[in-house]
Amino acid sequence: MNTQHTDQESATGPATGWWTEAVIYQIYPRSFADSDGDGIGDLPGITARLGQLADLGVDAVWLSPFYPSPQADAGYDVADYRGVEPLFGTLDDADKLIADAHAHGLRVIVDLVPNHTSSAHAWFRAALAAAPGSPERGRYVFRDGRGPDGAEPPNDWRSVFGGPAWTRVTDPDGRPGQWYLHLFDTAQPDLNWDSPEVRAEFLDVLRFWLDRGVDGFRVDVAHGLIKQADLADWQEPQEILSGSDAQRPRPPMWDQDGVHEIYREWRRLLDSYDGQRILVAEAWVEPAERLARYVRPDEMHQAFNFEYLLAAWTAPAQYAVITRSLEATDAVGAPTTWVLSNHDVVRHASRLGLPIGVPRPNGIGVGDPQPDAALGLRRARAATLLMLALPGSAYLYQGEELGLPEHTALPDEARQDPTWERSGHTERGRDGCRVPIPWEADAPSYGFGPTDASWLPQPASWAEYARDRQAGTPGSTYEMYRTVLRLRREHDLGRGALRWLASGDEVLHFRTGEVGVLTNFGAAAVPLPEGAELLHASCPLDDGLVPTDATAWYRP
Ligand code: NOJ
Repeated sequence: MNTQHTDQESATGPATGWWTEAVIYQIYPRSFADSDGDGIGDLPGITARLGQLADLGVDAVWLSPFYPSPQADAGYDVADYRGVEPLFGTLDDADKLIADAHAHGLRVIVDLVPNHTSSAHAWFRAALAAAPGSPERGRYVFRDGRGPDGAEPPNDWRSVFGGPAWTRVTDPDGRPGQWYLHLFDTAQPDLNWDSPEVRAEFLDVLRFWLDRGVDGFRVDVAHGLIKQADLADWQEPQEILSGSDAQRPRPPMWDQDGVHEIYREWRRLLDSYDGQRILVAEAWVEPAERLARYVRPDEMHQAFNFEYLLAAWTAPAQYAVITRSLEATDAVGAPTTWVLSNHDVVRHASRLGLPIGVPRPNGIGVGDPQPDAALGLRRARAATLLMLALPGSAYLYQGEELGLPEHTALPDEARQDPTWERSGHTERGRDGCRVPIPWEADAPSYGFGPTDASWLPQPASWAEYARDRQAGTPGSTYEMYRTVLRLRREHDLGRGALRWLASGDEVLHFRTGEVGVLTNFGAAAVPLPEGAELLHASCPLDDGLVPTDATAWYRP
């Protein structure tokens, strides 16, 4: 048995505020609720269902992008940062959503995409029409090509979605011209964050949404804005889902020190507003100490803990990632921000049903090894109870409260994630976690919208996951989430320190506040301590014992 605790004081004192322990629900607008029956979710659809999210018991919502966009990357290709994509509604709809969310006691976080714009953005169009070396091109990363006629890309960087990270433009006179950098799709040109104009523009975009009342921003690709000045070659593959790991030199496109002054400036702006507006970093950065630099007291408030999301379902791996993460964020006085699923990864109800130790797939298709659905859901429920007891904030991804699995049988022709095409059909990509979610078992599109239309097909088996089948049904995943979110509030979980009682090869066991938490990863059922009063468990106890792949919360 190994006993440790991580409640040491940080140099700056711990951060305080609503966000330090908030449970924040990610809404993926295309797939949450469709008010007009066109098969694509929209803002009025979300607004109409806010009451159900308040009833679930979350504190805030984060909305993936809903801005005007050609949707080359499902809205992460923004053509106008101050508007609403007509597919999703209008600016008035956004104002109403924010006001209604606040009336329900829910805070609202919106997505900010500062690493790149859409190629349809007015700035990029102007850059294409302008000459090399012009101020218009200076807002992006344009370079001459290599080789005698400039026909080779400026360096060897790969796009995260596959293929080269550079595209050559055709000049207004029809001749091949310079190349521009896009770490993602060709339709997502990277901005040049050395440009004062780019910096000023984003401060203004922040003000635009702060003035409309949003409570914070999730910052897309927060570790990517600054590139190493020499744009040096990098002979490694490029992956969206593994950050810079500690064993390798830091890639020239990720986690450069220069990003931090940008967030300090943003923080000063947010602090000038009332009501504790927050920044949360989407930064695929390892090790935990590097990630913690994004949440130093004068920078962002939160950074998604992706190392935790990626950790194997074993007691030693979970123990290691939890302790490492808490130590790293404690050292800068910040809470840790836990997450198990989002719109970029295989849903955890399926991911945890894959064999432990095999490489994690980027999407699953019919011909691929399939997850064990029952095992995945059982482990997902145990993982969720473990996560929601940890000190810090936690993010939930729409549908996980239903135990929703990945759609692992999407027809390849239906796929829309650019990864599928750009990887030359070697990676299926992220569509399987983005399928519109089921609300009512017997309604068209399971209540997603008023018609059968759904931009990605929903599997026939999803009726059983619908919210209305689960609400009020004891033991359902939905009721488990509601219950533990209520208990989390009642017992002030998410706040304070964690004290390990045991961590071995099979069991994790800790105290947080007045609650004991035990997760059993081993084959044999284990008892709770003498006199423990069960608060809730991820599945029924087995003769009073906590069975395999289960978590129990108890009062000692
Ligand atoms: C991260 C987002 O979560 C993902 O969906 C998107 O494709 C990339 N950033 C590029 O914006």
